Amino acid sequence: MRELVTRVRDTLCVERREAELIVAALLDRPRFSVYFNEPIDDRARTLLVMKVAQLKQGVPIEYITNRTQFLDYQLCVHPGVFIPRTETEYFVELIIKKTKRPPDSILDVGTGTGAISIALAHAFPSSTIIATDISENALTCARTNIARYRLIQRIHLVRTDMLKGLAAPFDLIVSNPPYVPRSRLHSLPKSVKYYEPLIALNGGEDGTKFTKVLIENSVPVMKDRGCIAIEIDEEAESDLTDYLKTNTCLHYSFKKDLFQKSRYVFLEKR
Ligand SMILES: C[S@@+](CC[C@H](N)C(=O)[O-])C[C@H]1O[C@@H](n2cnc3c(N)ncnc32)[C@H](O)[C@@H]1O
Repeated sequence: MRELVTRVRDTLCVERREAELIVAALLDRPRFSVYFNEPIDDRARTLLVMKVAQLKQGVPIEYITNRTQFLDYQLCVHPGVFIPRTETEYFVELIIKKTKRPPDSILDVGTGTGAISIALAHAFPSSTIIATDISENALTCARTNIARYRLIQRIHLVRTDMLKGLAAPFDLIVSNPPYVPRSRLHSLPKSVKYYEPLIALNGGEDGTKFTKVLIENSVPVMKDRGCIAIEIDEEAESDLTDYLKTNTCLHYSFKKDLFQKSRYVFLEKR
């Protein structure tokens, strides 16, 4: 095992500690197991070498192990489905902190793996959630995760384009929509650009296309005193402020992420 760690370290040009984490993750064993120097059979070794070659090409480790951690939840994820990010974990924490009354009904637009819905279902045990996505691939993955956490009675998956066909009034509408401006897509890291689904990233010309559609279409289906929470691109605040000032009478506030970048907008109907 130690010799494998050395090989991974040299192949991927990473620190030994990171190589240990990678070997443990790829073998689906706890990290401390790499210190035991247990023998590894030929099949497992060959498989590991193949997976390391994929990593070297830029394939995200989550697509190789088919799992990812989101807050307290271990989720299944596979190629074609967006890998949930740390910024979104913080987004969920903010939503929970800002929500004063437990919402009866929540809508999660563009649910991907179902990460936001699963975390909110645990935070608000009496809420019913509708989670939508346009991608059948994403919905299949979300279905697996929702079943794993025994939430099929509470999270209902709908395949639709944004909010099309949804009528129920919601207390809380949340979304982490595609928001990368088209001009920045080419400069994304290789592992994102070549391996994550473009449909989950491309936010149109300036990255606010889906955010604006969301705001416009949320108003008619949100309850009085309802709230909308959207994750946005770090450069979108000024464009969205102009849009909100001229197009809605919603009360809005922008929130920063852990790196002090403006990354979330919260809107309320008052
Ligand atoms: C940035 S990912 C976020 C996924 C998940 N909510 C998360 O935070 O990990 C955006 C998601 O929106 C979905 N999506 C893209 N266009 C959509 C549309 N027109 N209607 C509904 N969902 C859409 C994508 O398939 C993807 O799952």
